[in-house]
Amino acid sequence: MSRAQKTILVTQQLPSSVENRLSKNYVAILNHGDALTQEQILIQAHKADGLLVTVTDTVDSAFIGALPKRVKIIANFGVGYEHIDVEAAGRAGIVVTNTPGVLTEATADLALLLLLGAARRAGEGHVMMRAHAWRGWTPTAMVGHDVSGKRLGIVGLGRIGLAVARRARAFNMEIHYHNRHRRALEDEAGAHYHGTLESLLAVSDFLSLHAALTPQTRGLLNARTLALLPQGAVLVNTARGDLVDDEALVDALKNGRVAAAGLDVFSNEPHIHPSYARLDNAFLLPHLGSATTDTRNAMGFCALDNLDAFFAGEEPPHRVA
Ligand code: DGY
Repeated sequence: MSRAQKTILVTQQLPSSVENRLSKNYVAILNHGDALTQEQILIQAHKADGLLVTVTDTVDSAFIGALPKRVKIIANFGVGYEHIDVEAAGRAGIVVTNTPGVLTEATADLALLLLLGAARRAGEGHVMMRAHAWRGWTPTAMVGHDVSGKRLGIVGLGRIGLAVARRARAFNMEIHYHNRHRRALEDEAGAHYHGTLESLLAVSDFLSLHAALTPQTRGLLNARTLALLPQGAVLVNTARGDLVDDEALVDALKNGRVAAAGLDVFSNEPHIHPSYARLDNAFLLPHLGSATTDTRNAMGFCALDNLDAFFAGEEPPHRVA
């Protein structure tokens, strides 16, 4: 059967150039309404040879077990794939792919935006201007924190972590990082390696999270670990909300242990912990890390490259299961 006869079920609306290419090469079942629920996907899945899912779809083992045998590949529109039970997919003989690399620069840009925004109180300032509440410049109004000369701790010096480090150096920050394995010297580019998270936290005036969400990293930042940060540290999270224990961070933001947080990702999105929205020192964005036209197109094309390779009988370039 040629590629044009294969059917791909898409769970959410994709950029139009991605949908156009998909529709040209496959029978595409598109969705321009709300994201499909698991039940809605399963109703249509008997027609599909592959699923194109996003980071908001829960592809757990019960769902995978209920998929018809016809479905042979799940192509994820996104790099993180903790929402997909890859072991269950493997057992079911379903290939899983993701889209690494193409969203590195956009996500790193956003991490710097959050870092600067949180440090310099940009969210508060924006809200004040919108409310017509500005009373004018004063020497003491809305003072924030310098980033220049400060230590930036990076948890997870992978593609995005490295791109954040490159940008932060231009802001004269000193880079520290923790990984399970030390990076090669040329990747470190002078960054200081910490063999334990605890050692990294102790020196992180700023901390930026770039670890994948796994059972080991869930709740990595909690009451115990947040207490290890220098007083008045700034936290940035563009990775996954579940890396952070919300109650502990809210307490740390309230008592000043953490001076400010720039958060783009949250547990239980889009239903964020209600206290964040009430805290002036929480600078919040709605999971915008990869949200640029070029990047979202590139993510879609990367997902399609995976599908194309698979249906051509080749190894998909970004196979994770
Ligand atoms: C991903 O690809 O995992 C991102 O969270 C999407 O922005």
